[in-house]
Amino acid sequence: MSDPDPSNDARSVAGWKRAAAEAAVADVADGMTVGLGTGSTAAFAIEALGRRVRDGLDCRAVATSNRTADLASRAGITLMPLGDVAEIDLAIDGVDEIDPELRAIKGAGGAMLREKIVASAARRMIAIADRSKAVDRLGTRAVPVEVLSLARAFVERRLMTLCCDPILRRAEGQAVLTDQGNLIFDCHFADLGDLPALDAHLSAIPGLAGHGLFLTEIDALYLGGPQGVFRSERQPRPD
Ligand code: A5P
Repeated sequence: MSDPDPSNDARSVAGWKRAAAEAAVADVADGMTVGLGTGSTAAFAIEALGRRVRDGLDCRAVATSNRTADLASRAGITLMPLGDVAEIDLAIDGVDEIDPELRAIKGAGGAMLREKIVASAARRMIAIADRSKAVDRLGTRAVPVEVLSLARAFVERRLMTLCCDPILRRAEGQAVLTDQGNLIFDCHFADLGDLPALDAHLSAIPGLAGHGLFLTEIDALYLGGPQGVFRSERQPRPD
């Protein structure tokens, strides 16, 4: 995964992801429980955390997917089962789109349910991304939702009443299953409209286990680009 020539790294999207990930991992302190995200940017964070652990950092982690658990174990990071952890000190995870208010769409990798649990359990969440993920307004990408298969038709119809076009995620002709064995609908909206209202509508559908809108969980964004890593913190909303 490492690029042998650091000057190439600074010019490549992979290098920007790596720089953002390494900046976030520098914030991990001794004794912390860390939430590890899923995706290519999170993989750079896992690699960096593994190096810090080998250098003597004392921490433990929870994984947001089986893939991440695999990577973390191979990196020598001590993992705890998510079901045993009520509070996380710092979650570090990628995003698919993020707006200036640090609201994001996640779940291109299908891990949004566990990612939401980890983000919600975390005292602080840092989103890590390359600059292509920063948008003025969310909604170019589909919003993924995780659905119990026994509720597939019902949830699909409810989603259509929210004015979206839900597409069952497939790979090689088969429905993609999440790590929990559930289905994924990628919901294409012409306009996401009122984001908190959409969040509430999606969350209220029985059989819909989770969705990829992250409106309040992200505290900081570390965004990699050609000039280095740009950090921003969530601003309190004016009342
Ligand atoms: C995984 O389900 C997603 O939420 C990822 O965090 C997101 O897709 C970012 O992935 P990359 O870092 O690979 O772009």
